[in-house]
Amino acid sequence: MANLAIIGAQWGDEGKGKITDALASQADVVVRFQGGNNAGHTIQFGTKKYAFHLLPSGSLHPEKLNLLANGMVIDPLALHHELRMLDRENIATQNIRVSHRAHVVMPFHSALDRAEEDRKIDKVGTTGKGIGPAYQDKVARRGIRMEDFLNDELFRQYLNEMVPTINRLLESETPYESEQIFETMVSARARLQDHVSDTAYLINQAVKEDKKILFEGAQGTLLCLDHGTYPYVTSSSPTAAAIPLNTGLAPKHLGNILGITKAYSTRVGEGPMVSEVIGPWADTVRTVGREYGTTTGRPRRIGHFDVFALKHAHQINGFSHLAITLLDVLKGMHPLTIVVGYRYQGQTLEAFPASARVLNQCEPITIELPGFDEDISDVKTYEALPLNARNYIEKISELVEVPIGMVSVGPDRTQTLIKEDIFA
Ligand code: GDP
Ligand code: IMO
Ligand code: MG
Repeated sequence: MANLAIIGAQWGDEGKGKITDALASQADVVVRFQGGNNAGHTIQFGTKKYAFHLLPSGSLHPEKLNLLANGMVIDPLALHHELRMLDRENIATQNIRVSHRAHVVMPFHSALDRAEEDRKIDKVGTTGKGIGPAYQDKVARRGIRMEDFLNDELFRQYLNEMVPTINRLLESETPYESEQIFETMVSARARLQDHVSDTAYLINQAVKEDKKILFEGAQGTLLCLDHGTYPYVTSSSPTAAAIPLNTGLAPKHLGNILGITKAYSTRVGEGPMVSEVIGPWADTVRTVGREYGTTTGRPRRIGHFDVFALKHAHQINGFSHLAITLLDVLKGMHPLTIVVGYRYQGQTLEAFPASARVLNQCEPITIELPGFDEDISDVKTYEALPLNARNYIEKISELVEVPIGMVSVGPDRTQTLIKEDIFA
């Protein structure tokens, strides 16, 4: 099977953008399938650094088809901004397509997102991009999809129905005006409209022609609406199972699943994180790993590698391989600690708990391995990694029972070691 899914195995920011870009040269099609501009995917090569929030991370390979599939929620102003960024860099955008079924994120969705966070005592710590409210409207069957957004009459009708309700909900001193939103959005729409297409058809054509498709997840499995640390999750499913529904690909065509995981844990936003460490070790990792959110700039919470959480992610996704990223950050850290299980009220747990309340009371069970002092950022092959670095990742692989496919030793495209050619 020629297709490959890139799935966040932790709480997001695992380096999915970097790995997608690195593999995109071998693909024909790259597809983002869920979430919106809550995502922030960083790609670096040489002195160039790009952050994509909506565009697939294959967009720096303009000859490839890059698709934003039906399961996404898309802020046209943000998409316009990203396309303009590529225009300024003289990177062609003619192969970028946006699903006509994707839902549109409106300016009032971010206002609703923030109002909901303000109201809550137990906050989620959302990105404030309006993702939750946009998915709420989709499920409530009152959203607007790209296809209707392109039609003046339907878009006006939608705004005239929605805006008074939103104004009542927000009770703002400066209420939204339909016509003003219409004007703002229509000017961004002009740049997007030629890109709107039937992406499910394009994906299925690619399958028929035996082309290689790379699916790029956003967020991570522990932020999954169904399988994550609810309610501290996002409003979509970032798992492999979400791909068929969110793209129109029949499930039997889903190929290998590559789980992306950092060599330690990070989380941005609120919610349980049993492996979290507070103190000098975490501060060093945050500084060396530049662990600040790509979308919001918030400092990321840091923890030890959590095999117990990874096993849960593997159970949901069925990873064929793992890509371990940011291994270079652990240079000089002694010892290397791995969380192998959780203890709750004196009992060792068999399975990852559903309840945030239970998770907050769990204690990590850990093992320690010797660290490494060598700078690995210039290492070119897996075999050339220091023995203790290899022992660390091989231990993780052994515990979770998934082979290692790739190791990343720096943010640059070139700092990627292929252990097994997953996408050959
Ligand atoms: P994504 O959301 O999963 O695409 O990940 P982000 O781009 O939000 O965060 C990952 C961060 O780590 C980015 O700043 C990347 O440039 C950086 N990065 C990715 N892989 C490596 C690596 O192996 N080593 C180091 N030091 N940084 C990396
Ligand atoms: P990428 O694709 C890390 C987190 C937010 C918050 C929760 C809900 O870059 O890995 P939302 O705005 O989605 O309603 O926020 O999810 N979150 C992410 N954390 N990486 C992301 O994306 C995230 N997208 C959302 O911090 O805790
Ligand atoms: Mg990110």
